[in-house]
Amino acid sequence: MLIKSRITAEETDITRLRVDAIVNAANTSLLGGGGVDGAIHRAAGPELLEECRNLGGCETGAAKITKGYRLPARWVIHTVGPVWRGGTRNEPQLLASCYRSCFKVVAKHDLRSLAFPAISCGVYGYPIDQAVAIAVREVVAGLEANPALEHVCFACFGKQVYGAYVSRLDQLPG
Ligand code: APR
Repeated sequence: MLIKSRITAEETDITRLRVDAIVNAANTSLLGGGGVDGAIHRAAGPELLEECRNLGGCETGAAKITKGYRLPARWVIHTVGPVWRGGTRNEPQLLASCYRSCFKVVAKHDLRSLAFPAISCGVYGYPIDQAVAIAVREVVAGLEANPALEHVCFACFGKQVYGAYVSRLDQLPG
């Protein structure tokens, strides 16, 4: 099956997606925040924060899984993207590591469907086109390495991010 047919970009609120797992763009405390982190905690309810409190935080580029509670998604994979500091502080490698860490969790839990927000593209200020290029490259690699993962959705907020994903995905072969 063509990799391209297993990836979609949608203009949607990630908290509404009925997938095995949605990815949260969290911070190292894992104790919630604004942006997509805030939206996921609001939709999941207080039990999510309770579970996060016991995780001992999360390093930038790493990923930890919790239940989804009141979300339609069964799981939440929390990852921490790099803050953009001009691109000379290992940001590309750390952002790539977020996707790779999430795929390790997906394989461990044998998940079939997954949705990512545009990690680091909000508060953390990562230039969208550069972040999207890394995201698409890493998701293609993740799907190639894991045939059991049937579908990855890029859940985009706003036309700029959505457009960046669509044009990047259009460049994929097939
Ligand atoms: N669904 C999908 N995407 C969303 C949603 C949502 N409900 N809410 C926001 N977004 C988008 C933003 O528009 C942006 O494109 O998610 C992308 C990531 O933006 P942020 O949520 O700001 O995440 P990030 O840039 O990685 O910064 C993380 O922000 O919320 C805090 O606690 C979080 O400290 C951490 C920091």
